[in-house]
Amino acid sequence: MRKKIVAGNWKMNMDYTAGVSLFSEVINMVKDEVRGEQEVVVCPPFVHLHSLSQLASQHAKISIGAQNCHQAESGAYTGEVSASMILSVGAEYVILGHSERRQYFGETNELLAKKTDIAIRTGLKPIFCIGETLEERNNKVHFDVIRKQLAEGVFHLTAEDFAKVVLAYEPVWAIGTGVTASPEQAQEVHAFIRKEVEGRYGDALAANTTILYGGSCNPKNAPELFSQADIDGGLIGGASLKSRDFTDIAKVFNQ
Ligand code: 13P
Repeated sequence: MRKKIVAGNWKMNMDYTAGVSLFSEVINMVKDEVRGEQEVVVCPPFVHLHSLSQLASQHAKISIGAQNCHQAESGAYTGEVSASMILSVGAEYVILGHSERRQYFGETNELLAKKTDIAIRTGLKPIFCIGETLEERNNKVHFDVIRKQLAEGVFHLTAEDFAKVVLAYEPVWAIGTGVTASPEQAQEVHAFIRKEVEGRYGDALAANTTILYGGSCNPKNAPELFSQADIDGGLIGGASLKSRDFTDIAKVFNQ
């Protein structure tokens, strides 16, 4: 059965002291309260990766991820961070194609396909984000946008490599806005995504693909969202900065 994951995307928040303190609280709460097969992933800024990975290393349930990586192995790319550097400090995941990267840093599907390749080749598991803007939804082209993001960003992968990818559906209009897609709206898109995966890789791989929902998830709306047939967890922004809220979201999968 596919993995359930609750992942926190801290974005560009938390200086070092605040980050270590938040993560220590998360570890303690998760250790005491989270019961089940779900995995908890925390994706802090690059500079925290090493310390948080060390703190997380005692806790099988908690993994660490980065929020981005460069598409080259190494070289003269001042200010950038490579997949192998991320792996070398103990991270397991890397978020790729977040809408903020697409919007503010001009990341295209073509570039993201390269980042996905290097992440997988290096041994990181990509959390690959897809999703439409409000304008695209209003123009009823959201399914076309998502189909293209998948086709150009990840569907070049072999089945063996695609099996390492976690997908995250993030409707841009529901990110940081307090607006959530209704459970029905989210489920509709998740089912569409799984169908696309099935068309490319077959039903067994599609059934095993974890598809996260991201967009103003909180402890109140998570139970209904996560009870949808094709929603396998969440990619949490704002609520991941509060240990209580983040843990409560992770507990939705408690058994
Ligand atoms: P919010 O949960 O703050 O809406 O952010 C969602 C997100 O972008 C997660 O990557």
